[in-house]
Amino acid sequence: MSEILMLYASGTGNTELMAEVMVAFLEDKNNQIVTKTFDFDPIDVEELLNYDAILIGTHTWDDGGLPYEVEDFYEELADVDLTGKIIGVFGSADSFYDTYGGAVDLLSDHLQNLGATLVPQRLKVDLEPDRKDVKRCEVFVGVLCEMIEEKV
Ligand SMILES: Cc1cc2nc3c(=O)[nH]c(=O)nc-3n(C[C@H](O)[C@H](O)[C@H](O)COP(=O)(O)O)c2cc1C
Repeated sequence: MSEILMLYASGTGNTELMAEVMVAFLEDKNNQIVTKTFDFDPIDVEELLNYDAILIGTHTWDDGGLPYEVEDFYEELADVDLTGKIIGVFGSADSFYDTYGGAVDLLSDHLQNLGATLVPQRLKVDLEPDRKDVKRCEVFVGVLCEMIEEKV
């Protein structure tokens, strides 16, 4: 059993749906999940170190930017040693925009530069997840679980 932290920011619920699919899949595989949202829960970057892996979901805002509620967290990430920490980054976005899912890329690049070990795929879903996207979410966290097992 692994302990996994799920953090997400979702304005209209699409990224939240992705997070729910992932949490259900992981719990079904007997993992212990703590879920927090950037909107409602205080998030201390130090707590990232307490988990076997972390999932971070974010929708994308203006011109491919981070939502404002994720900005402080993004800055504070540099205060902890994330070397080798297993992290998966995902989010809903809208392919209508030039910088499709830009926030997922910004966060992924930043975490990679800080030494985290990322799930290779940056999982972006176009607006609301459909049935195929649900499967993609499950495959994504399946890879995360394999990465945890390989590390143990
Ligand atoms: C003001 C505004 C700006 C947005 N800018 C982008 C963008 O630059 N790139 C992108 O891929 N999606 C952009 N989106 C689309 C959202 O990321 C998309 O609607 C997503 O499904 C929202 O996820 P949520 O339901 O989890 O909040 C924007 C949406 C709004 C309302």
